[in-house]
Amino acid sequence: MPGAPRSADDVAALGFGADYNPEQWPREVWDEDVALMREAGVTVVSLAIFSWARLQPAPGEWDFGWLDEAMDLLHANGIGVDLATATASPPPWLTRLHPEVLPVTRTGETLWPGARQQWRPTSPVFRRYALELVEAMAGRYADHPALVAWHVNNELGCHNVWDYSDDAAAAFRTWLSERYGSLDALNAAWGTAFWSQRYGDWEEILPPRLAAAHPNPTQQLDFKRFSSDALRDHLRAERAVLRRHAPTVPVTTNFMVMAHTTGMDYAAWAGDVDFVSNDHYVHPGPQGPDELSFSANLTSGIAGGEPWFLMEHSTSAVNWQPVNRPKRAGELARDSLTHVAHGADAVCYFQWRQSAAGAEKYHSAMVPHAGADSDVFRAVVDLGRTLGRLAPVVGARREHARAAILFDWDSWWASELDSHPSDRLRYHREALDWYSAFLALGVRVDVVPAASDLAGYDVVVAPVLHVVPADLAARLAAWVADGGHLVTTYFSGIVDEHDHAWLGGYPGAFRDLLGVRVQEMAPLLDDEAPRLDDGRTVGLWADPVDVVAGGVEVLSAYADGEQAGRPAVTRHAVGHGSATYVGTRLGAAGPDGVAATLRTVLDGAGVRSELPDRARGAVELTVRTRGAATFWFLVNRTDAPVDVDLAGEGVRAEALVGEVADGVVALSARGVAVLRVAH
Ligand code: GLA
Ligand code: GLA
Repeated sequence: MPGAPRSADDVAALGFGADYNPEQWPREVWDEDVALMREAGVTVVSLAIFSWARLQPAPGEWDFGWLDEAMDLLHANGIGVDLATATASPPPWLTRLHPEVLPVTRTGETLWPGARQQWRPTSPVFRRYALELVEAMAGRYADHPALVAWHVNNELGCHNVWDYSDDAAAAFRTWLSERYGSLDALNAAWGTAFWSQRYGDWEEILPPRLAAAHPNPTQQLDFKRFSSDALRDHLRAERAVLRRHAPTVPVTTNFMVMAHTTGMDYAAWAGDVDFVSNDHYVHPGPQGPDELSFSANLTSGIAGGEPWFLMEHSTSAVNWQPVNRPKRAGELARDSLTHVAHGADAVCYFQWRQSAAGAEKYHSAMVPHAGADSDVFRAVVDLGRTLGRLAPVVGARREHARAAILFDWDSWWASELDSHPSDRLRYHREALDWYSAFLALGVRVDVVPAASDLAGYDVVVAPVLHVVPADLAARLAAWVADGGHLVTTYFSGIVDEHDHAWLGGYPGAFRDLLGVRVQEMAPLLDDEAPRLDDGRTVGLWADPVDVVAGGVEVLSAYADGEQAGRPAVTRHAVGHGSATYVGTRLGAAGPDGVAATLRTVLDGAGVRSELPDRARGAVELTVRTRGAATFWFLVNRTDAPVDVDLAGEGVRAEALVGEVADGVVALSARGVAVLRVAH
């Protein structure tokens, strides 16, 4: 992993650092910065992310002196630089000269300058200025000894993914003509016979701007695909310049794999970076830690199980949630190490020093307003030491679990479109509930993009896998026929890649595989909470399920409500495999509602927890391997101490972090242990 300078014994260290914004501070503060960085064990910082206005004060005018000095200072102190291309936030002179680069919302409002990321991904004018800057940065710093990686832009699409401007309209047409080849094919795919929408000329096609009624759903879905691709195109354009100047320096851009970021299909982007990096911020609420683990896990899935780079998270509070609570004791280290457990080989924060001014002055940092004499900075220094002990883990891949959860951006986008049976469905929440159930049962699971190779998995859960092209249906059916155990839910298998319903009864593409048929989907009103025969209450959805094949067993039935007596959960035995259908939202009364069904499926597949009974649910286990070495990460998810008796499980281990005494790992509240496990 780049960004990790090698230590004396030539064992790579885990990267540790932050976004560093020295331009916000007088020069004398920089010396204190590097001294504190050394104290904390910082190895890498991201520089110049929001420096465009400083680097290019006016068209044709450049000021690199301060950045030269910062690069040299960091290098002299042994700190590597992940150097931004600085294109994230265009300077005021640019948008004054070219207001036509400003994004336009669905309702026709301009996003004005004054914040950041005020640019259209498809603007040829913006592209020209941005690449001029990248050219200047790459030309100047390609050979600088501090440079360890290039950081393209910043969080592409964070604020500007949805642009409905005329530039976007033109680029959308080009994208569509490449996708469909002809207007006839587009008209067929978009189902334009409906509501008199037939297009006779490409110029008639627009982004799905504010309309009198629901815009065409396939147009909406394609616009989401296009918007993700447009940003990816920007990434590729910057990368091409960087490659030309510095062919051996790796290029990355920080993804935002987290619950509230829907716009970018990162599974598709992964091939465009030399290593995957991610930003993650914990959300308040009971499932916050689970969501962190889920996102880290999915980032690993996107990286194909290879190590990745945690580019940003927070030492404590953020400033953009409704209430920004500081982290509690132990959470700084636990959150960071949970990312490492899932494959991060670098742990970086936004940001190094908390800003005194600006919109993020209440966002935590490694050095807070309180200064180095603070619990946050002491926790940072402690974590730096802990990461130092994890050098043997660097480069380790994640060990393949026996179970997987499929995650699919097309299904995320399409299942939450308007004009649907229910506007209450949340794709990510359903996936997260299944993940929480795996955590509760103490069973390891990989979260992977839907296109992943499933060979090697015994159980695959595909929650709300809504968009199912024929080849995906065939691939899943073949995997089940081969002995795989599939679980899928309500609103899965409903449409093809064009968002056209599979006909003949739901769940269309999976009907034969599941051996069930639903004539009409039946979402529930908010106050409807039917009970199942085992006492669980469910919600959101209650498909009237008919069993239409032999070998289908009813695992749970409705005890009351409109579907009383009918199946809610079914399992179809197929050869040595099985296909389970969950026609309702088991997690409606809390994620625990999912666990009972998941346990049945896992038992049927012979997949068990590797943790001792008493640790299940309280402790998350993840495993990384490098060559013959196997590392177990044990993360205490609770606020109380937990003992993990490994000897009882026949596991022999020595601790890199934490302690093993008489075969027992004593985890403190929110504590983490990392073990090298003997085979
Ligand atoms: C109105 C319209 C129809 C159809 C229905 C749907 O009645 O005239 O075309 O859209 O609403 O409820
Ligand atoms: C994002 C950005 C950072 C900063 C953080 C704050 O991740 O990339 O510049 O705004 O959010 O949480």
